[in-house]
Amino acid sequence: MSINQLDKKSQSWSALFAEPMSELVKRYTSSVSFDKRLWRADIEGSLAHAEMLEHQKIISTSDYQDIVAGLRRIGEEIHNNQFDWKLDLEDVHLNIEARLTQMVGDAGKRLHTGRSRNDQVATDVRLWLRDEIDEISDLLKQFQHSLLEVAETNVEVIMPGFTHLQVAQPISFAHHMLAYVEMFGRDLDRFREVRVRVNRLPLGSAALAGTSYPLDRERVARTLGMVDKEGAPCVCQNSLDAVSDRDFAVEFTSAAALCMVHISRMSEELVLWMSQNFGFIKLSDRFTTGSSIMPQKKNPDVPELARGKAGRVFGHLMGLLTLMKAQPLAYNKDNQEDKEPLFDTVDTLKDTLRIFDEMMGGQVDPKTAIRSGGIQVNVQAMKEAALKGYATATDLADYLVRKGLPFRDAHEAVAKIVRLAQELKKGLSDLPIAQLRAINPLIEEDVYSVLTLEGSLNARATLGGTAPGQIRMQIERWKKLL
Ligand code: ARG
Repeated sequence: MSINQLDKKSQSWSALFAEPMSELVKRYTSSVSFDKRLWRADIEGSLAHAEMLEHQKIISTSDYQDIVAGLRRIGEEIHNNQFDWKLDLEDVHLNIEARLTQMVGDAGKRLHTGRSRNDQVATDVRLWLRDEIDEISDLLKQFQHSLLEVAETNVEVIMPGFTHLQVAQPISFAHHMLAYVEMFGRDLDRFREVRVRVNRLPLGSAALAGTSYPLDRERVARTLGMVDKEGAPCVCQNSLDAVSDRDFAVEFTSAAALCMVHISRMSEELVLWMSQNFGFIKLSDRFTTGSSIMPQKKNPDVPELARGKAGRVFGHLMGLLTLMKAQPLAYNKDNQEDKEPLFDTVDTLKDTLRIFDEMMGGQVDPKTAIRSGGIQVNVQAMKEAALKGYATATDLADYLVRKGLPFRDAHEAVAKIVRLAQELKKGLSDLPIAQLRAINPLIEEDVYSVLTLEGSLNARATLGGTAPGQIRMQIERWKKLL
């Protein structure tokens, strides 16, 4: 279809076609309802292409100037919601090009020289995604920062650490928060690495085989900031691959899916911790809802929804993989289906990160720099839960090992002590020394200092362990990194 026929598409077709497209097929094949979101990238790509065409003397300076003026005006129209998007014009690319031609005549028709929508759309999606990755990275850093603040004020707060969701050993609540800082740090790394492969130029590959015009692709890449760390242009090196590659979209969605895994693990814990059985935390009321029938209830809707939305992003990843599977080279219209999953992945992830940042860290008043809201920790409930579960049993075993008992025998002795404590409905540190010594005579009065939660925490001072000194070091490390 030529640009001359664009506006007439609904009424008549070129000589090649015997009948017009039905309304249903038009709706089915058109993408403008969602890909108009790419307008900024489309204009940016077109400006860079036109600049290069002029530089290479493929179009005249006056045509170039008309194109620039026209595209700028179109940008304003779209920005001000004055642009008339036409379903008949199929997608964002044809809509903008048709309007440009309407505005500046033949110059508009020359913009598409040496270009195809196939390399154009691949370029647009990459430009758009690059900006989104930058925003997501900022949001991730902000969220990590908030988690660090929560950690900083809770270094001495002790909770039970779990394995198999059974009380295992006492840990600091800050240590638990820092575990998530690590996860989101890896997410950040992944997005950074994906960005390198997103930031590469397909434009200049034309429909599939390259073009007969003397294009300078590296110039376009430089104009669009598609350069590596040394400033060298990053250009897709095979035209067939360039127009059909969507690896970058799969990789991005995969990184997003993994980030949502982390969000959903955190969500699950928040839901558990909020339940009456745990009672470890409270979230601000604005992140919970009541029940229409049970007046006492506050439901953790936000973490629950986030847990659910993880599934939706996994679905998009599966959708994109399936979309690409078995596509023959080069471009196929299947690829138009890459956009909605990508868009929704970006929207879901960004909203989730924003809301989690505020839910966990609260809001900082820009005037006073005072934080309010955020997760509220029930220090007493955490401590009681840690005391209830014989969480210092390992410390007792380690104590016996220090007194010379082999670890396996120590394990056995402590199991007996725990059983005794259970029978007497007492905590480990409530058992009298005589009863402890009856099970193993190596035990002496000094045992009580290792049976406290604080003693247990302090003892775990290996790198990455939960001792407060280690945690403070990790907080400092992250502060420097961020
Ligand atoms: N709207 C199309 C897409 O998203 C643009 C490329 C169309 N190319 C084509 N040869 N029909 O993929």
